[in-house]
Amino acid sequence: MRMVELIEKKRDGKALSTEEVTFFIDGYASGALPDYQAAAFLMAVMWRGMSDRETRDMTLAMARSGEMLDLSDVAAFVVDKHSTGGVGDKVSLVVAPLVAAAGLPVGKMSGRGLGFSGGTLDKLESIPGFRTDLSVAEFKAQLQDIGIVLTGQSANLAPADGKLYALRDVTGTVPSLPLIVGSIMSKKIAAGADAIVLDVKVGTGAFMRNLDDARALAEGMVRIGEEVGRKVTAQISDMNQPLGWAVGNSIEVQEAIETLHGGGPEDFRKHCEVIAGEMLHLSGHAASLDMGIALAQETIASGAAWEKFRQLIAAQGGDVAFVDAPDRLPTARLVEVVRAPRAGYLAGTEADAIGMTVVGLGGGREKKGAPIDHAVGLRMHVKVGDRVEADQPLFTLYANDAARRDEAITRGLDALHFSEHPVDPLPLFYERIVSGT
Ligand code: URA
Repeated sequence: MRMVELIEKKRDGKALSTEEVTFFIDGYASGALPDYQAAAFLMAVMWRGMSDRETRDMTLAMARSGEMLDLSDVAAFVVDKHSTGGVGDKVSLVVAPLVAAAGLPVGKMSGRGLGFSGGTLDKLESIPGFRTDLSVAEFKAQLQDIGIVLTGQSANLAPADGKLYALRDVTGTVPSLPLIVGSIMSKKIAAGADAIVLDVKVGTGAFMRNLDDARALAEGMVRIGEEVGRKVTAQISDMNQPLGWAVGNSIEVQEAIETLHGGGPEDFRKHCEVIAGEMLHLSGHAASLDMGIALAQETIASGAAWEKFRQLIAAQGGDVAFVDAPDRLPTARLVEVVRAPRAGYLAGTEADAIGMTVVGLGGGREKKGAPIDHAVGLRMHVKVGDRVEADQPLFTLYANDAARRDEAITRGLDALHFSEHPVDPLPLFYERIVSGT
């Protein structure tokens, strides 16, 4: 088989056979195929797309490019969740301990922030001592021991995705539906969970900007999961404004802790209840989604979710004194409240620009591997649809550098759009896609 022929075939809009797709993935993962041919192929896929069968073949070849975890020896049924990435998305910090406290083991490998979207690992690393580099043996032992793990991806889990994602990132080929499906589902399949709840974001702070694209992505992922014998449900959720109030690392951990104590922002709390409810329902711990939501609420109210969070932090080397007194987590030197220049209604936000405002403060990274400042961030004070009076606080900035803070004031204000007329609030969720329907 010659790679140039596969590139030409895809360039001309033809479907590749299972052997051809596997040849590409195996060849690129092993280093036998050069970046320039892989890049040309990815661009052809970006424009020509892939059939469901080609997408499935690619996903499975990517999953099999490394270790395929079998968790059956440590837990009878393991559930996982995955968000397609957003701004202020700290859902895993609440939902993983909550679901584990309700008796369902959660083994989760999370990612780091890239571009405007934050990452669970970066947030957790605000807690001194917390380790995110567990080995597979440690992952399994902790899952068996306390029923919860939140760590980084093992180096040998879907390594084809690691290479392909890095190449996509620098060749303009990230927003391709089959490539996103393959990237996410290969990792989920290799990580061994029996059930997976997907939180597919749509809006200005998401990869998918409209509902049709988000639905196609959700359906594609659910279908593949189903085909390989996993139970999968997707919720399509709004990402046209940050989730909750906090955007940053330690301030998001603080907000997650408030939520685990039964407080926190209403939109974020409800969002967590639905995702946790889906996980409990999908795995048979609750007879319906509503019963799953009720169980999630009880698990927060009883304090069990909070206790499981503390157990998780301690098990991975984190200093629980910092989560017991979250104002001890890293804090920024400069705090600036930014106020409304005039009265109106908040009509919309560019959530990606809000995420980039935090990146500009040093709280995220534009390049893989760059260091980040856990203390900086932005706390919103208004939601879309709110009436705002002149001089009312819109957001608070937490900065460690005056020049960056001044730039963030302008960027943050430019990301908010106002109207003179009343505006409807945004929904939390749009659609639910369940396997077998
Ligand atoms: N998240 C992933 O893991 N991969 C993608 O391609 C997009 C989002």
